[in-house]
Amino acid sequence: MDAIVSPTTRGPTIPTVTGVDTVITVEHLRKTYRRTVAVEDVSFSVGRGEIFGVLGPNGAGKTTTVECLQGLRSYDGGQLRVLGIDPGRDPDRLRTRIGSQLQSAALPERLRVDEAIKLFARVHAGSVDLPAVLEAWDLTGQRRQPFAALSGGQRQRLFLALALLGRPEVVFLDELTTGLDPTARRSTWELVRRVRDRGATVLLVTHFMEEAETLCDRLAVVDRGRVVAMDTPAALTAGQGGPVTMTFTANGYDPRQLTRIDGVDSVAVERGRVMVRGLGTATVPVAAALASQGLAPHDFRTNYPSLEDVFLSLTGHSMLEEEPS
Ligand SMILES: Nc1ncnc2c1ncn2[C@@H]1O[C@H](COP(=O)(O)OP(=O)(O)OP(=O)(O)O)[C@@H](O)[C@H]1O
Ligand SMILES: [Mg+2]
Repeated sequence: MDAIVSPTTRGPTIPTVTGVDTVITVEHLRKTYRRTVAVEDVSFSVGRGEIFGVLGPNGAGKTTTVECLQGLRSYDGGQLRVLGIDPGRDPDRLRTRIGSQLQSAALPERLRVDEAIKLFARVHAGSVDLPAVLEAWDLTGQRRQPFAALSGGQRQRLFLALALLGRPEVVFLDELTTGLDPTARRSTWELVRRVRDRGATVLLVTHFMEEAETLCDRLAVVDRGRVVAMDTPAALTAGQGGPVTMTFTANGYDPRQLTRIDGVDSVAVERGRVMVRGLGTATVPVAAALASQGLAPHDFRTNYPSLEDVFLSLTGHSMLEEEPS
């Protein structure tokens, strides 16, 4: 099976968004901590207005990559640009134009919501319309609550509010929804979309497949310090990620003719249901072949591989496995 971007793919061939400003460029980033190679060779670029995901298992190098991009860590090799600024050289100039939520984010337990917002505003934005910020993030009722008394969802909303003070052009979110229940996670996705709708570009780190699939315009799948694939979630799963299965019932129809269609690997009939396996590109021609014979099976279904399947086929191991020690 072809990988979309092979692990050895070098910078210039990396797909970028065309016709859109590039606001983040990472070229061959390398970062080691003593003997640990945290990032071996990571390259990608992010266009203005995208929600771009960095997806990978624990220890893949995601946090290291985004912290280097924010000027929070030094690195050993490669070239980084965020809004045209080199974060390694000019982190102070960059800081006023980006917003960030760090994976290890926590605030002093007794700091109240309004105090946190005013404090961050002094550092990042100068002045702040406190009631408007509280209202925008549904925190008006929590205005005088200390950080320790906030629920997980309220904390995430506060972190997003803080990350967005000063209207940053680029927002970095690292594991924003880890620890949230599925409902809170979904509402946080809505908030992230809102961040983008306000005009910011979002770089989002996650190891949740569903989050990457539903939220990201494009994503880089990283494993053990390397980018193993990069594309839209749909292209990753449907394009070349693995076999697609189409099933339908068509009594009296001889499905063997479908094997002549480009991209169809196999056709089988099981308890009256036809099962066609092949590439995602074969889906439309199969449906068209049925239609040309006057068949429109009411139960025609296409099952695409999940991102987890894609990850497994690209790396040979599951996202859920710990990194090798
Ligand atoms: N400050 C540090 N000192 C030494 N090693 C580190 C440090 N930070 C990270 N590492 C190591 O670098 C590798 C990549 O870590 P990183 O935090 O970037 O991964 P991650 O993809 O963000 O993982 P997670 O999903 O668990 O947050 C890991 O092996 C980790 O143990
Ligand atoms: Mg991390």
